Amino acid sequence: MRVKEIRLVNFRNYAAAGLEAGPGRNIIYGDNGAGKTNLLEALHFCLSGSSCRTLREEEAIGPAGDRALLHAVLTVRELDVETGVEITAAGKRLTLNGRETAREAFPGRGGIVLFTPEDLLVVTGSPAERRRFFDRLFSTLIPGYRGALRAYQRALEQRNTLLRTCRGAVEPPTDLAVWTEALAAAASSLYHLRLKGLALLTPGAAKVFRPLTGKRLAIRYASTVPLREDEAATKEQVLSALAALRTDELRHGQTLVGPARDDFILLVEGKQLRSHGSRGEQRAAVLALKIAEAELLEKQRGEGVIYLLDDVFSELDGKRRLALLAATEGRQTFITTTCKPALKEAAFFRVENGTITAEGDAGV
Ligand SMILES: Nc1ncnc2c1ncn2[C@@H]1O[C@H](COP(=O)(O)OP(=O)(O)OP(=O)(O)O)[C@@H](O)[C@H]1O
Ligand SMILES: [Mg+2]
Repeated sequence: MRVKEIRLVNFRNYAAAGLEAGPGRNIIYGDNGAGKTNLLEALHFCLSGSSCRTLREEEAIGPAGDRALLHAVLTVRELDVETGVEITAAGKRLTLNGRETAREAFPGRGGIVLFTPEDLLVVTGSPAERRRFFDRLFSTLIPGYRGALRAYQRALEQRNTLLRTCRGAVEPPTDLAVWTEALAAAASSLYHLRLKGLALLTPGAAKVFRPLTGKRLAIRYASTVPLREDEAATKEQVLSALAALRTDELRHGQTLVGPARDDFILLVEGKQLRSHGSRGEQRAAVLALKIAEAELLEKQRGEGVIYLLDDVFSELDGKRRLALLAATEGRQTFITTTCKPALKEAAFFRVENGTITAEGDAGV
């Protein structure tokens, strides 16, 4: 899959602009506030039918009128398809080859690997940020993950509601046993899928991380419950952990152990990346995870993914930038940066105040 061209009308700070993309690397450069991330967002919209930036998509409507329009030509399995996005305050209208369609039919869904500076929160942020990151990643990579996560969240919510209503009680309510059983079953299947996800992802991420930093990356699952090889045995562990905490749970009015309390620990040469890693290493780890995700997605889809990499070069030195470019070789890549890098074999686009100028011609 690749983007051939994109046009933007009244989209954020673009009145009317567009570009014809190169098949490989596309470097989008310009000053802060020029519109680089807006352009990546427009690409994301045209590929997947939704924003990568906001849930309130009407924010993207520019000042000239009450609608934003995007149009792209994509090549999907050797065939050209056209996607269109019209955003108004009332909602958005998506088209595929001129016909109105649902977001699910957009060809880029599940085929984009996006990196934004906010992704660094995977390393520097709270355990909740890491759980969110890995849950999203495993939901696309591991069959059954999304369903298992939902089942666990539902069971947890019900059990927490019950614990909240009888907060401070000495004796547990009669329904608690039922929800404890449901929670333990859902938790143990989610545990095993998380471990499966890590086993799938970690070798690829470590392989990308090595040339980026010269160091060894590992990911350890920090569980609040001792995990066993066998799912049924893990369930017993969850049940006994919950039984041991019953008095505390009644006092706090919530479930105190399980996948919603766990963490994913990123380790570099055996040390915590969060506290011991340099900024460049932290960034490299997130990129390595994203690239490993892309490789797994490609295997599943049987088709190349598209990389949208926002501000990916900052904090990486020249050698690391080249290693990153080597790791994404062979796929269409859009990279935004404030400084134009000295690179061969790339298409360059200068973004300035909502205009896009393709290097070597007057732009489109
Ligand atoms: N709906 C909108 N209408 C008009 N302008 C908008 C709209 N939404 C955002 N902008 C403007 O777009 C400008 C460019 O934003 P963008 O995030 O793309 O910059 P950038 O080139 O990525 O900058 P940086 O290097 O700082 O990341 C901002 O000045 C912002 O005010
Ligand atoms: Mg930006």
